[in-house]
Amino acid sequence: MNPRSVRISGWGMYAPERRLTNADLERVVDTSDEWIVSRTGIRERRIAAAHETTATLSAIAGKRAIAVAGLEPDDIDVILVATLTPDYWMPSTGALVKEAVGNTRAAAMDVAAACSGFVYAYSIADAYLRSGSFRHALVIGAETLSRYLDFSDRGTCILFGDGAGAVVLSASDEEGGGMQGLEMTTDPDGAYMIWLPSGGSRSPVTGGTLARGEHYIRMEGRETYRYATKTMATTALKAIERAGWQPTEIDLFIPHQANVRIIESVAKGLGLPMDKMFVNLDRYGNTSAASVPMALAEAVDSGRIKIGDKIVLVAFGAGLTSGGIALQWTADPLCGERAASVEPVAKVREPLDWSSVDPIPERLRQVLEGGAGPSVPLDDVVPGEPEPAHREVLA
Ligand code: ACO
Repeated sequence: MNPRSVRISGWGMYAPERRLTNADLERVVDTSDEWIVSRTGIRERRIAAAHETTATLSAIAGKRAIAVAGLEPDDIDVILVATLTPDYWMPSTGALVKEAVGNTRAAAMDVAAACSGFVYAYSIADAYLRSGSFRHALVIGAETLSRYLDFSDRGTCILFGDGAGAVVLSASDEEGGGMQGLEMTTDPDGAYMIWLPSGGSRSPVTGGTLARGEHYIRMEGRETYRYATKTMATTALKAIERAGWQPTEIDLFIPHQANVRIIESVAKGLGLPMDKMFVNLDRYGNTSAASVPMALAEAVDSGRIKIGDKIVLVAFGAGLTSGGIALQWTADPLCGERAASVEPVAKVREPLDWSSVDPIPERLRQVLEGGAGPSVPLDDVVPGEPEPAHREVLA
């Protein structure tokens, strides 16, 4: 039977303990705290420890969301993990997370839409629940971006951080609440504005791709910035219109936490003051798919959201993708206190006959250990001008 509504019943987040400050980054690349704060608003970001992965971060945030919803792990029917930094290309991170949260019966999968991934995954789960297929979905956004950053590229390594956020969506027999308007876009004109060249079927990893640093994220910062300032406001506006609301009725926006200047321009584009925009990127940087659910969980737990509030989640990211959800909040914010009972540990199944190398990039390790000399960029990494794939094979 179709439910009367689909609502957020639980929320949770987890950020690794280790902080990487702007002062730390001054020791690896030619940058300054002043430049990073004035151009982005970021002051520090979190870095996953060597034993942590996207699946372990996801599982902790997921267990917190399940506790807040007042459910048991086996009440969850489907698990969606939005990420661009999965533990492996296969199995899915969702499969590992299912076991780590203590669930024995859910379907589990990953969703790839970069920083818009959580909004996309939320919309998929919402559709399942509205159709009557499932009653409870665990939707997670999680990343370990520090493993995919070139810590000699000041255009990217200052921006990103690690973390996870989650919500439980539940079918309800009560009318109203939950998602009222949805907008999603994908624009391949910007497909190579933010990309990771090697590791996929177009360019499997070889010694050559490694030497060229093609296993690291590349980005055209200025172009991405232009796209984001245009798209975030129009995407949010479409979602608000579909809900039949006006921008001035929105109590709080939870925008993707990429750059405070982008968020300021969204506020300006919608004619709203900045106090309608939730911002926590100063403490976490851009955590891609994790950014919106982490910000949502912090907004609820810090008293910024109350029952009946009109909320907009809005994100943009590689693809280029964008997604916006206009929703009405129905859960008691005090339930957030239940997350305190969940320890920040997760056990993820490991292979029997294989072990990972140390996953922390070498230059990051030097900073974390208090060392690192002057920056030495990779010789042949030219942002925006990728070397032809398989050069050494074709030669
Ligand atoms: N420290 C000091 N100087 C720097 C740094 C740095 N970390 N990075 C770049 N610069 C320099 C540049 O080299 C350039 O110098 P030049 O004028 O001598 O050439 C100058 O600063 C200006 O560079 P811009 O790139 O124009 O700087 P901008 O103001 O655009 O800020 C930034 C760069 C912060 C990357 C901005 O463009 C941005 O936020 N873009 C959006 C990025 C984003 O949100 N990406 C996430 C997408 S989400 C996903 O799916 C993963």
